[in-house]
Amino acid sequence: MTADRELESELARAAEALKWATRVAVLTGAGVSAESGVPTFRASDGLWEGHRIEEVATPMGFAKNPELVWQFYNGRRENVAKVQPNPGHRALVELEGRYGDGFTLVTQNVDGLHQQAGSRNVLEIHGSLRRTRCTSCSAIEERGLKNLGDRPICSACGGFQRPDIVWFHEALPVDIWEAAQMAAHECNVLLVVGTSAVVYPAASVIPIAKANGATVIECNLTRTDASHAADIGLYGPSGETLPKLLAKLAG
Ligand code: APR
Repeated sequence: MTADRELESELARAAEALKWATRVAVLTGAGVSAESGVPTFRASDGLWEGHRIEEVATPMGFAKNPELVWQFYNGRRENVAKVQPNPGHRALVELEGRYGDGFTLVTQNVDGLHQQAGSRNVLEIHGSLRRTRCTSCSAIEERGLKNLGDRPICSACGGFQRPDIVWFHEALPVDIWEAAQMAAHECNVLLVVGTSAVVYPAASVIPIAKANGATVIECNLTRTDASHAADIGLYGPSGETLPKLLAKLAG
């Protein structure tokens, strides 16, 4: 079968599974924002380029050189401020409209582009670039995407703020992660979009859904660590495959 015909047949199978579903969960990763111009992590032009993960994305790195970490995160914030959600984000908004409360979007992304596109029930399991957390009183503040300088201060207690991001070696926020696991447990269909599925516990959403009988649909440029669990594969840019899927579902 040619790639186009294979995609067409997989789109039909995916639409069929979604037609029967009452509860749908989605796990997204950096790939869903790639067509907006946000670099993915594990591509050669990825975000860590020029920086070792240990320096900019661990609590140890922050303790050692908070100024460098803030420079890095201010750079990421400024990049996200320049971009817009893409048709993949918008297709997921449309999908939520179809299922209402039966829809949960679990994202590993910290760019906030799902909410900017209009998604409502979004669980940010790795935090957000748009928020800070006080290292003294733990107060969380919405700070948008402007440059915060390299020593942002908590407006509640005057303490030093850090990005509200889950770094390597840190636990996921308990309530949000529990809600994500619950959504995986309850869904009839799990869409896995633009993630290499190598970072845990995030990727364990996939076996949880699978073990509970969900149909797993992978949307990615290529096969990944999640592919062995996928019942259906939509291979291509998610900014193209997701709108095609929504069109099929409407048809
Ligand atoms: N459409 C669909 N998939 C795409 C696209 C696209 N246009 N572009 C890239 N991809 C896919 C890649 O093939 C890859 O599988 O997106 C995936 C991106 O993988 P990663 O860079 O590993 O990103 P992600 O899976 O989100 O990383 C998980 O790792 O570094 C940590 O905390 C960080 O949340 C992040 C986590």
